[in-house]
Amino acid sequence: MKIGIPREVMPGEKRVAAVPETVSRMIKAGMEVAVESGAGLLSHIEDKDYQQAGAVIASDHQTLFAQADVILKVNKPVMDEKLHMHELDMMKEGTTLIAPLYPARNPDLVKQLIEKKITSFSLDMLPRIARAQSMDILSSMSNLAGYKSVILAADHLGKIFPMLTTAAGTILPAKVIVIGAGVAGLQAIATARRLGGVVIAFDTRPVVAEQVKSLGADFVSLETSHEQSQDTGGYAKEQTAEFYQKEQEIIRQYSREADVIITTALIPGKRAPILITESMVREMKRGSVIVDLAVEQEGNCELSEPGQIIVRHDVTIIGILNIPSTVVSNASQLYSKNLLAFLSYIAPQLQASRLDMTDEIVKGCLVTYQGDVLNAVVKQVLK
Ligand code: NAI
Repeated sequence: MKIGIPREVMPGEKRVAAVPETVSRMIKAGMEVAVESGAGLLSHIEDKDYQQAGAVIASDHQTLFAQADVILKVNKPVMDEKLHMHELDMMKEGTTLIAPLYPARNPDLVKQLIEKKITSFSLDMLPRIARAQSMDILSSMSNLAGYKSVILAADHLGKIFPMLTTAAGTILPAKVIVIGAGVAGLQAIATARRLGGVVIAFDTRPVVAEQVKSLGADFVSLETSHEQSQDTGGYAKEQTAEFYQKEQEIIRQYSREADVIITTALIPGKRAPILITESMVREMKRGSVIVDLAVEQEGNCELSEPGQIIVRHDVTIIGILNIPSTVVSNASQLYSKNLLAFLSYIAPQLQASRLDMTDEIVKGCLVTYQGDVLNAVVKQVLK
């Protein structure tokens, strides 16, 4: 089985889908690996590092795609602006593609995958079960984003985080609010606490209260029940407009005192809920900072601008996209380990040309299979 690791051509992407360590593990497992020349450069990995691990270097994008049986990617296939050619058109029929594809947001891509008879797995759809933890790209990338969000906030805040007693007086600790205590939020809480901040967290899922408290933060209850707050997969359910209005009013009381707000609240497949309005920003302290980690899904703050750092009402609002790419060495390392775990799991089934559709992992993230769609969620998207 020939595995292909292309250079990522999505603007701003620095990550790569395999590092030398994962390449050498694939080769030990009997696979052949080709890496496109320069694929690892932005992750500080040179072609010779991949060669030492046993990979063959493919001279260009088209050669890499044309030869591989299985392509591992960081982003969905996109148009290569330099070649004026879509990456999908570079793949041969019957290729297997493993990448985050977000099919609900990309129905046209799914249609192209069907036409090209590509077998595709979308790792963002992997079930969040214990058995799939080592393959969970969402968790590993969210962990990094949660950490980096606090570092970004600290860098843009004209204050330090910890309490400091000096001969010139005492500095009070920074007050940090974290909205959404999933994987990214919990890591943001832990990081802000480590820097010495005082942290308050909100989540619609009361089940996270204990985890928040165990990290040394206060949890503000939004008075939701377990059933009302989350689906069977553990993801937050969408709430009513009245609920969000009430939640905004609760957050408003705390945000007036905050130095930093980190927002991470997401609803799978939906626009992120607006939890910070312009009027709330106007009431915040001058010089405070908001980091909107939900900006890829249109943001939790009404004023966030995707890809921008802006100042409104003397509040810095950070809407940087693809934050994991800013800690690229760790991001490529963790991402490629997740991919290796998934590939090792699925390879025997691919080699036998027989996918086990009763398997929760396969069923959850298989988007297209030999020109067909078997996944119920994806079928719904195409209707
Ligand atoms: P996410 O990225 O989809 O959402 C982030 C957080 O925002 C969630 O905690 C959600 O409850 C919260 N949220 C949504 N709307 C909100 C609102 N209006 N106000 C405040 N907070 C709001 O979540 P993530 O981090 O992907 O985790 C999703 C679920 O998956 C969780 O239950 C998590 O524990 C579970 N999980 C399970 C794993 C496993 O292997 N068993 C691994 C990772 C996550």
